[in-house]
Amino acid sequence: MAKEKIPYIKVKPPGKKASEWVKKDNKYVSRSYTRTYPLVVERAYGMTVEDVDGNRYLDFTAGIATCSTGHCHPRIVDAITRQANKLIHMSGTDFYYASQIKLAEKLSKITPGKKDKRVFFGNSGAEAIEASFKLARFHTKRTLVIAFYGAFHGRTMGALSLTASKTVQRRGFRPLIPGVSHVPYAYCYRCPHHLKYPDCNIQCVEWIEDVLFRTTIPPEEVAAIIVEPIQGEGGYVVPPKEFHQNLYNLAKKYGILYVADEVQSGMGRTGKLMASEHFGVIPDIVAIAKGIASGLPLGITIASSEIMDWGPGSHASTFGGNPVSCEAALETIKLLEESLIENARVVGNFMLKKLDTMKKKYEIIGDVRGKGLMIGVELVKDKETKKRAEKERGEIINKCFQKGLLLLGCGPNSIRFMPPLIVTKKEADTALSIFEEIIAKYNSR
Ligand SMILES: Cc1ncc(COP(=O)(O)O)c(C=O)c1O
Repeated sequence: MAKEKIPYIKVKPPGKKASEWVKKDNKYVSRSYTRTYPLVVERAYGMTVEDVDGNRYLDFTAGIATCSTGHCHPRIVDAITRQANKLIHMSGTDFYYASQIKLAEKLSKITPGKKDKRVFFGNSGAEAIEASFKLARFHTKRTLVIAFYGAFHGRTMGALSLTASKTVQRRGFRPLIPGVSHVPYAYCYRCPHHLKYPDCNIQCVEWIEDVLFRTTIPPEEVAAIIVEPIQGEGGYVVPPKEFHQNLYNLAKKYGILYVADEVQSGMGRTGKLMASEHFGVIPDIVAIAKGIASGLPLGITIASSEIMDWGPGSHASTFGGNPVSCEAALETIKLLEESLIENARVVGNFMLKKLDTMKKKYEIIGDVRGKGLMIGVELVKDKETKKRAEKERGEIINKCFQKGLLLLGCGPNSIRFMPPLIVTKKEADTALSIFEEIIAKYNSR
């Protein structure tokens, strides 16, 4: 078969068929979703997403950092099909089946820290966080939790109580779970102190001890500090190594659990299995979800067996750790170990270098940051004032879509590049050329 051209725009999107689906969606589907552009997907394979009108796009979203092995990888499809022909569901909450046990054993062995771990199975990132939150309270017998401004941990009531990314996510849903205090994250663009004193990013941690623990929060009542190693939805914010190390040491000093939300940053995306490895900390509890099962629903919470000390009936989820998702995850891990984690590191560095060069050339690029294939580009009105280019961010993402490149935003004024981990340098080059062609036009304004 001749190699097809990607991207390939046959009709200006949205085409006739896509427009009809969008119209129907507007009538029947919950209005709570935030669609950035009218992409109506028919099929997807590898790095390619094809819409209902026959347009083919280069995917730098990976279904929001989820399709880690690319779309419909033949080995994943094969693993799913084999399992679906044998057993689709039985519920690991009440019965045993090998795929769930095999995956728990594999994750216990490959995730950082003691080998003696236990694994809890849910269906989503929010569920992995709920389980982490509940486990931290259960194990420590403490109630309070510290989370960060800019954090996104999901939208169920417990996870939402930790989320502090956008007010729209919380508006109308109070009261939330009591006992959560938010503090500034390193390089938090919402922290006015940080804007004035750029070196204060490590002091954010000192502030917890010097101010919070002296005034309102007795440290001996704090169960957990829940933190994203790299903030995702909040703007792809990469803190300095010392931020996490100091946070971890603070937690240890007061018997607090350090919980890493690796839902977006985990499973090879940053060029290491877990993003916390970049910062030299070994979390007490880890939540993972997005990249683990190549697009099938699976949320996982991992802790040492000493910490995961709850008994039968304490926590469970009917669909969690479904055999088909578990088999997809086992095959995903094989692919990650064979080459994809390394590919994320290599192609990620390649992209970061190219984007850094663009940053020097274009006034609108205020910052480029990331690890592996978790890359954020922050857009500003100009480099001097660093005023956020929010409107321009939306326009640029839409123009890239029109040219066949799929991107999404994060934070108030950043664009995230989070392709499947199979992306090649050539595909990265194509994506960055489209991106550059568009931002170049903004520069001359
Ligand atoms: C870091 C992080 N935690 C938790 C979640 C929630 O995951 P889900 O949407 O699967 O509930 C997300 C989703 O974007 C996330 O990025």
